[in-house]
Amino acid sequence: MEQVNVALVGLGWWGQKIGTTLKGNASIRITRAVEVNPAAAASFKAAHGIPVDDDLGAALADPSVDAVLLVTPHSLHEEQIAAVVGAGKHVFCEKPLALTRAGAERAVALCRKAGLILGMGHERRFEPPIAEMLSAAAEGRLGRLLQIEANFSHDKFLTLDRANWRLKPEQAPAGGMTATGIHLTDLAVKLMGPARDVTVSCERLASDLPSGDTMSAYIRFAAGGTAYVSATLATPFFSRFALFGTEGWIDVRDRAHVEAPDGWVVTKGMKGEPIVVEEVGKAEPVVANFEAFARAVRGVAPYPITGEDMVNNIALLEAIVRGAASGRMETIQSMDRSAA
Ligand SMILES: NC(=O)c1ccc[n+]([C@@H]2O[C@H](COP(=O)([O-])OP(=O)(O)OC[C@H]3O[C@@H](n4cnc5c(N)ncnc54)[C@H](O)[C@@H]3O)[C@@H](O)[C@H]2O)c1
Repeated sequence: MEQVNVALVGLGWWGQKIGTTLKGNASIRITRAVEVNPAAAASFKAAHGIPVDDDLGAALADPSVDAVLLVTPHSLHEEQIAAVVGAGKHVFCEKPLALTRAGAERAVALCRKAGLILGMGHERRFEPPIAEMLSAAAEGRLGRLLQIEANFSHDKFLTLDRANWRLKPEQAPAGGMTATGIHLTDLAVKLMGPARDVTVSCERLASDLPSGDTMSAYIRFAAGGTAYVSATLATPFFSRFALFGTEGWIDVRDRAHVEAPDGWVVTKGMKGEPIVVEEVGKAEPVVANFEAFARAVRGVAPYPITGEDMVNNIALLEAIVRGAASGRMETIQSMDRSAA
């Protein structure tokens, strides 16, 4: 497969991680980058020898760039996707795709109409035990899916400068929802379909984080079944995703944050069989996600995260944000199927 040439936009925490993990990749190659902060631009250039511009224009005008990876603050995603698609390039956007369902629908529709691939930074789907869980569910090996219990927490933001965009409620509402919870809801809508309603608790218990530090959401799905999804920004790293079906259940725990993966502990209970605990070795789901994106760009295989899943997830995010403010059960707006 011909390598996909990409421009990497945003060289902060996650952009640097992506730059490092894609080094020498056979499927995808960062040929240029964009960063508005001169210090971040200089350190990336020094580390990787890749040219860095301070605006998107030159990358969009470069015919050798096949796709653009957006690793920028949340409020920029929508307008940057529109600019990239307008230039006829494939786009990979870090989560969340948008902050409103309408915004997600616009982004998905733009890419679809232009015949361009839209990738999403939901690498948890590419963690080997999660990928196996998704296959088991899709193939019916877990029977009728009933419930999800999931938590993704860390305390990495407690020391951020209080002016950092990641602490602004308009960019990162509902505690850890846009940082970590959004990965759990992505898996939840993939497994259970669109959500029907959600009840949220979002508290500030142990920090001065303006959006709160401890959130949980109780989600009911249109086709039945529930998910309890929680995230705190005031406890050391923890990540668990458990799925329960009539034929069995699977519980996946990450040994470390995906910035430096260190394997997984998987516990399984299948009907009529003893409970089994397995260790799964290290893997790089971030790279696996980009390789899937590259295959889709080259037309080798469809990208596994569908536009419908993306819209369902952001519709749920929007309702969770409303619920965090209201404290009441919030209904999820149904999707405009023509858009996704
Ligand atoms: N998939 C994951 O697991 C994961 C993990 C961490 C972050 N993220 C996502 O990555 C994105 C970036 O998060 P981060 O933690 O790296 O933030 P960050 O603040 O560390 O980095 C963002 C960078 O974007 C730069 N930037 C701002 N405006 C820009 C513009 N117009 N053009 C180019 N660069 C611009 C900033 O100067 C900064 O260096 C967010 O969407 C976040 O949710 C995803």
